Amino acid sequence: MNNELIDRITDMFHKTFGKAPAHLVRAPGRVNLLGEHVDYNDGFVLPAAIDRATYIAFSPTSTSLSGLVAVDFNQQASFSPQTILSKTQADGSPLPEWAHYPAGVMWSLNENRLETRGMNAVFASNVPRGSGLSSSASVEMAFALAWQALSDWSLPPMQRALLGQRAENEYVGVNCGIMDQFASACGVENKLLLLDCRSLEWKTIPLPEDVSIVIADTTVRRKLTSGEYNKRRAACEEAVRLLQQDLPNIKSLRDVSMEDFNRLAKKLPEEVSKRARHVVEEIERSKQAEALLEIGDIQRFGEFMNQCHASLRDLYEVSSFELNAMASIAQSLNGCYGARLTGAGFGGCTANLVARKKAVEFTQELGLRYESETGLKPEIYITRASNGAELLT
Ligand code: GLA
Repeated sequence: MNNELIDRITDMFHKTFGKAPAHLVRAPGRVNLLGEHVDYNDGFVLPAAIDRATYIAFSPTSTSLSGLVAVDFNQQASFSPQTILSKTQADGSPLPEWAHYPAGVMWSLNENRLETRGMNAVFASNVPRGSGLSSSASVEMAFALAWQALSDWSLPPMQRALLGQRAENEYVGVNCGIMDQFASACGVENKLLLLDCRSLEWKTIPLPEDVSIVIADTTVRRKLTSGEYNKRRAACEEAVRLLQQDLPNIKSLRDVSMEDFNRLAKKLPEEVSKRARHVVEEIERSKQAEALLEIGDIQRFGEFMNQCHASLRDLYEVSSFELNAMASIAQSLNGCYGARLTGAGFGGCTANLVARKKAVEFTQELGLRYESETGLKPEIYITRASNGAELLT
């Protein structure tokens, strides 16, 4: 599947620009197992980069103008450091929505005094958009690496991730945390990544040999979510502000213990209290994840995933009918340790931890039962933890 995509963009590059591309990069999407909606609360997350990615075939040009062909949209756009501030193209027309991600990366690199040489590029992705698998971060991390490949500067992957997050926060306008860009930039084959979103220290954790990560796509795409996402984040900030009256030293919900929260929750408006409870409890769960995986207690780890789903459904309120159906069917199936929505929510995919021996049977059974309950044909596959963004040529 990945090779097909590489062939498509290479052919298209040839057709559009009359020669072979000089370089090829890939940057993966991610799945998150535990620590959802906690990255922007300084918590811990446990994602893995997946074997689906954005690929770019590209060559440098002699001007500052970058000309992009988006195969998935069948569209082109061109922009330069001079046009991106007004979110326009070289001819003055507005940048199409999809181009905000690469243009945002150019903007963010330039803001940090990093040159972005002009490039001709053709790109495509097999990370489905709006599915909770970080298609936008994979576009950002692929372009950050592409511009790096054409320049004198070179940044560690975490720095590229931070610049991608800045592009998304300040250029695209989604107030996301660091998890997605981090996983896309820093992924390691066959490993889960444990990131402390406050210190940005991270380590890899081996995925137990006898379990598989299964991604189940409800095929319902989220819509208009940046508003809801930003509202969730604002509710967390409001909770911190109010809790500071009693706990003046806290900087984020990471600093609030379960005990303090239980004592003070009644002082918060109901909705703010529900949102903050999810975060405080989810940080507690994710703090225990490493120890559980170390002793091989997949059973308990899976229960945490199930609790996380319930909490995202009832307290954080970012689930949907289809995500709930997909998670609860999965949880009832043989060999499934845990199942929950992954990513921001509102649509998209669930992440499932399944006994390796049962994984194929699980995907079939889940597909049939989901279809009979919802009338929708899902896409369900076993994924492999992959490397982060890399130059392929
Ligand atoms: C989106 C954001 C991430 C993170 C998740 C929820 O994927 O981009 O930063 O907040 O939602 O955990």
